[in-house]
Amino acid sequence: MEVGPVLVTEDQIAERLRTMGAEITRDYEGKDLLLVAVLKGAFMVMADLSRNIELPLDIDFMAVSSYGHATQTSGVVRILKDLDSEIADRHVLIVEDIIDSGLTLDYLRRNLLVRQPASLEIAALLVKTGIQRVPIDVRYVGFEIPPDFVIGYGLDLYGKMRNLPHVAVMVEESDQE
Ligand code: IMP
Ligand code: MG
Repeated sequence: MEVGPVLVTEDQIAERLRTMGAEITRDYEGKDLLLVAVLKGAFMVMADLSRNIELPLDIDFMAVSSYGHATQTSGVVRILKDLDSEIADRHVLIVEDIIDSGLTLDYLRRNLLVRQPASLEIAALLVKTGIQRVPIDVRYVGFEIPPDFVIGYGLDLYGKMRNLPHVAVMVEESDQE
């Protein structure tokens, strides 16, 4: 596979995260908000989205590894790094880069719900349409995209290309002529 066309530009991401940040600012006014990002993919969304939320929030990170292929999740998730913070009675917003099968997030949601947060919602920059294998209620959606493999803006292929400022589609080399 090789890098194909740009799907979401740097400007589109910046603009969308501005409006999403404003919405979150309104919704969580006066609440004890904790943003939780899933490493490593969501590190960039976390940095940019949090800067668009005008509230005294906290941030925390989890690292998970899902068994399976590089471009497909198995739904079996292992927690590599848990939260540093207690989340009981706090308003938790999970910040995700992309929702594909939804299996990783479904696992995380259940895991965090056991700890009895005051609320638990999800903000995702990208949601692949129509391929979720479990129903996932995403409160804040950046962009709905086709179910292709994408890279950039935190998203990787074999650990690389996370540093691209935009999101691009990976294509088969034969597609390029
Ligand atoms: P899910 O469990 O299938 O929803 O996918 C979970 C994780 O797989 C995401 O948080 C990403 O880290 C990774 N992932 C899913 N789709 C893509 C993609 O198109 N490009 C890069 N990583 C992806
Ligand atoms: Mg990944």
